[in-house]
Amino acid sequence: MVEFSYNSKPILSMALSRFSLLPLIHIALFTTLCFAADPSVSYEFRLSYITASPLGVPQQVIAVNGEFPGPIINATTNYVVIVNVWNDLDENLLMTWPGIQMRRDSWQDGVRGTNCPIPPKENFTYNFQVKDQIGSFFYFPSLNLQRASGGFGSFIINNREIIPIPFSQPDGDIILLIGDWYTQNHTALRTALDSGKDLGMPDGVLINGKGPYRYNTTLVPDGIEYETIQVDPGKTYRLRVHNVGTSTSLNFRIQGHNLLLVETEGYYTSQQNYTNFDIHVGQSYSFLVTMDQNATSDYYIVASARFVNESLWQRVIGVAVLHYSNSKGPVSGPLPEAPSDVYNQWAAMTQPRSIKQNTTASGARPNPQGSFHYGQINITETYVLRSLPPVTIDGKQRATVNDISFVNPDTPIRLADLHKVKGAYKLDFPNMPLNRPPKMDISVINATYKGFIQVILQNNDTKMLSFHMDGYSFFVVGMDWGVWTEDKKSSYNNWDAISRSTVEVYPGGWTAVLVSLDNVGIWNLRVENLDRWYLGHETYMRIINPEENGATEMAPPDNVRYCGALQSLQKNSTHSSATSILAGKSVVFSSLLIALCSSFFIFG
Ligand SMILES: *[C@@H]1O[C@H](CO)[C@@H](O)[C@H](O)[C@H]1NC(C)=O
Ligand SMILES: *[C@@H]1O[C@H](CO)[C@@H](O)[C@H](O)[C@H]1NC(C)=O
Ligand SMILES: *[C@@H]1O[C@H](CO)[C@@H](O)[C@H](O)[C@H]1NC(C)=O
Ligand SMILES: *[C@@H]1O[C@H](CO)[C@@H](O)[C@H](O)[C@H]1NC(C)=O
Ligand SMILES: *[C@@H]1O[C@H](CO)[C@@H](O)[C@H](O)[C@H]1NC(C)=O
Ligand SMILES: *[C@@H]1O[C@H](CO)[C@@H](O)[C@H](O)[C@H]1NC(C)=O
Ligand SMILES: *[C@@H]1O[C@H](CO)[C@@H](O)[C@H](O)[C@H]1NC(C)=O
Ligand SMILES: *[C@@H]1O[C@H](CO)[C@@H](O)[C@H](O)[C@H]1NC(C)=O
Ligand SMILES: *[C@@H]1O[C@H](CO)[C@@H](O)[C@H](O)[C@H]1NC(C)=O
Ligand SMILES: *[C@@H]1O[C@H](CO)[C@@H](O)[C@H](O)[C@H]1NC(C)=O
Ligand SMILES: *[C@@H]1O[C@H](CO)[C@@H](O)[C@H](O)[C@H]1NC(C)=O
Ligand SMILES: *[C@@H]1O[C@H](CO)[C@@H](O)[C@H](O)[C@H]1NC(C)=O
Repeated sequence: MVEFSYNSKPILSMALSRFSLLPLIHIALFTTLCFAADPSVSYEFRLSYITASPLGVPQQVIAVNGEFPGPIINATTNYVVIVNVWNDLDENLLMTWPGIQMRRDSWQDGVRGTNCPIPPKENFTYNFQVKDQIGSFFYFPSLNLQRASGGFGSFIINNREIIPIPFSQPDGDIILLIGDWYTQNHTALRTALDSGKDLGMPDGVLINGKGPYRYNTTLVPDGIEYETIQVDPGKTYRLRVHNVGTSTSLNFRIQGHNLLLVETEGYYTSQQNYTNFDIHVGQSYSFLVTMDQNATSDYYIVASARFVNESLWQRVIGVAVLHYSNSKGPVSGPLPEAPSDVYNQWAAMTQPRSIKQNTTASGARPNPQGSFHYGQINITETYVLRSLPPVTIDGKQRATVNDISFVNPDTPIRLADLHKVKGAYKLDFPNMPLNRPPKMDISVINATYKGFIQVILQNNDTKMLSFHMDGYSFFVVGMDWGVWTEDKKSSYNNWDAISRSTVEVYPGGWTAVLVSLDNVGIWNLRVENLDRWYLGHETYMRIINPEENGATEMAPPDNVRYCGALQSLQKNSTHSSATSILAGKSVVFSSLLIALCSSFFIFG
């Protein structure tokens, strides 16, 4: 109740005074505030192009409010997060928030299968609750390779005060957005993929939107702005490191310092030190780093391409500087060495297998993370999703899963259901690779609500892939080389597997995840490698509660956008909506809510 009172009153008065102009958005606010009584944070995000030269070559990058990378979203468990996203680009836009579970609310997910895009010069207000969540995530624009040009930023969900974190309060929070980078923009990269090409080697690696420190005068040109992280000796910081890049796995390390892994994508891990750590595209990790060195000089922070021929990929390396306040001088000399196991595949998988959850730590809820005994639940269904290298279908380069290359529906899937649009998509995505000729299709998984499924990600492509599932986190119970078979189940970790939402799948190997399908909605399952994703390497899971006829799912928000077969329902962007019949109804509804809210404030 204390949390409630400081936040709700200003919003109430604001809503009353501006009510006639902006009815729709405030209803959503009221509903959440009145009935859930949870505080909120609001942001205005304006996405536009700015000119930047992170690698010394001027190019158009996507900025949020003029910043590249974008601002931090900083929330706490159960907060309502409101982000009004304005599209000042010259093409359609959707913002997505991977790892945020959007309980029963795929309307806010910001991917093309569930949302109509925001056209240029228009906006959309996302409004969702970070229910029962903690941890480190990032947001980005989901359409058409836009993330390759920027638009990303960090998304933090703090523990509530009543639930202590499973380590001492760090002396500071440091965000590091690392990612491969091309000096060509996303439209040029799209053109390359459309014409059947590979993206090729990136031009570099950025750390927080900046190019490498000039550690070698031959390899790094002069005049590049690099990132410097300022720290105090003896202190311990929480580093939140995210691979926001296009398609390259990166090895992250700090010269002379241990990385104590403590959290990944919303779960506290069993704490363990590493000298370097592989972070695959789309993944997020928190490390505690203690400034326990003697500061005879600054130290290198490195993010280098992983699982490639490093003598060829020398330029694909991000270098920032760790600067102690008592440092005696700049850093020089060779970078800390990368792991040398690239061609020893058996050793390379040791690290991901060592990531376990801390079963006794509490996360978003007071009970220990390990109190959900996933290992004792019977598996109701198995999906084997096999990735192959890109193929040519109908003269186009496409990527496939189970021989299907996904095509986005014109009409978002759940909207099509609610408005009985026929033939918008098919519910026939196969549970197994069927060795059929590859085809392009709007083919979706017919998943069963409350099922407990196993998904085997079988990578028969030639590169490392990261898989992500929206709306859920899953238990990573197994990972190995070769082809998965039923008997591999006996090797699963049924006790302390990490739960997360983005997992790597080694080329020539498989990763097994278990998921409890308790969140109704339409949820995207995709690779985070932007080239493969763009070429169709994704699908959706449709999870509907058959008994309640969809009643467990949230209704579409009042500001829902329409497109495709439902384009005629889309209201004009000119805010003339107050005069429409629908908005008229909203006014009555809102007045009622105000009455309810007021009495709640008075008597509650
Ligand atoms: C992207 O690059 C292409 C080719 O260099 C250029 O024609 C186009 O204007 C650029 N787009 C943006 C948005 O900067
Ligand atoms: C997030 O907000 C909390 C207060 O709610 C503050 O203590 C913390 O420093 C903020 N974190 C960042 C990274 O801004
Ligand atoms: C666009 O922003 C305005 C506030 O400036 C808001 O009232 C409106 O609901 C937003 N549009 C959508 C579709 O969310
Ligand atoms: C810089 O890189 C080049 C190319 O790899 C290498 O030959 C040279 O030895 C490096 N210079 C230093 C000072 O390490
Ligand atoms: C991790 O390494 C630090 C030194 O950097 C050490 O103080 C700490 O005890 C180690 N923690 C674990 C869990 O190994
Ligand atoms: C500081 O640490 C480095 C690396 O451990 C060591 O080589 C050096 O001798 C130390 N310098 C001093 C002044 O202690
Ligand atoms: C890496 O590339 C270099 C240069 O092309 C080549 O000589 C070397 O054999 C490659 N290494 C491996 C292990 O493929
Ligand atoms: C697990 O979490 C507990 C807090 O519940 C903490 O005391 C302990 O150090 C953690 N153990 C490991 C191995 O991370
Ligand atoms: C799980 O399956 C086994 C048989 O394979 C059955 O005996 C058991 O009752 C099932 N457990 C649950 C919770 O359904
Ligand atoms: C989807 O699965 C349900 C059972 O979970 C089944 O009743 C329904 O017919 C399936 N729908 C399609 C189109 O296959
Ligand atoms: C793909 O599958 C074939 C047949 O099982 C196998 O021979 C080949 O090595 C696999 N390639 C990769 C990269 O997994
Ligand atoms: C939307 O606004 C445009 C002018 O901006 C107008 O021409 C059009 O008729 C309007 N459409 C509807 C459905 O009101």
